[in-house]
Amino acid sequence: MFPKTALLALVGAAATMVSAQTGAFTAKQLVQFSLNVENLESAFLAGGLATYSAADFTAAGFTTAIRGRFQQIADSEALHVTYLTKAIGTDDAPVACTYDFTDAYTDVTSFVNLAQKIESIGASAYLGLAGALNATTLKEDQTTLVLSAGGSIAAAKARQAGWITSTVQGKQPWDGAFETPLTPSAAWSVLDTYVTDCPDANPDLPLKSLPTLSVSNAAPSAGDTITLGVTLKSAAAKRYAIWIDGLRSVYSEITNGKTVVPSGLSGTVYVGVVPSKDAADVENYVTGFAVVDFPFGPTARNVL
Ligand SMILES: *[C@@H]1O[C@H](CO)[C@@H](O)[C@H](O)[C@H]1NC(C)=O
Repeated sequence: MFPKTALLALVGAAATMVSAQTGAFTAKQLVQFSLNVENLESAFLAGGLATYSAADFTAAGFTTAIRGRFQQIADSEALHVTYLTKAIGTDDAPVACTYDFTDAYTDVTSFVNLAQKIESIGASAYLGLAGALNATTLKEDQTTLVLSAGGSIAAAKARQAGWITSTVQGKQPWDGAFETPLTPSAAWSVLDTYVTDCPDANPDLPLKSLPTLSVSNAAPSAGDTITLGVTLKSAAAKRYAIWIDGLRSVYSEITNGKTVVPSGLSGTVYVGVVPSKDAADVENYVTGFAVVDFPFGPTARNVL
């Protein structure tokens, strides 16, 4: 369910950058959006650790030290909530919603895998804040918070996601020269699937409600044909899958709900649906985003 957010038309947002939700949010709204992300992450990590003891981690093949690191990540999320709430004041700060992770993880392994995904999305959400900031609010107090504390938090989350990916999952510690920024609406389209209900008193934010996109294979190889599980309004209309990887986007045509996975993608990549190859902006998103993973082995090389 979509949380307490107004579905405003985003007028005047120019499609200059792939991941820009240009100028749609005031600085305070971006802090409020960040708190929505933090509240969800904090609830997710605390819930997983409350469910799985040290013995459960050991039985699943993860050391006590690994659970200790997850406890540190949970502490970080709780501290982000406290820090940002204090910064904008309790009157303006959204509080936690109710969340449902019942089907999202069912054992320690699926919990740590989802943690990697949620921390990556968190980092991407913070990295997209600067592009979403309305320049007319640059002089507001919260702008420094968004740009400076936001950068600090983005880096912490990216390190934590990198640790999960490498030490816990045995995959790559990083996946290229550029981390991936997402617009608030794109990031929230993934996280929103875990939200059940939010308090009415939480602030309205200019987030666009996007239909959930599921993919038939979340770890495909280049050249694979995958099915994008979304009902498109007009079967006749041309649609493309947009694959956001670092600062670049790659497109593939969708035919009868299927698309061929492009080559050259690495690590955590976000895929969505757009109507054309040249104007990927929140205004044009046809669906929300799904997370897909590609291996980035030690001998792989990135190109710009
Ligand atoms: C930016 O803020 C100004 C002043 O509040 C507002 O008039 C304008 O519509 C905002 N821009 C966007 C893209 O939301």
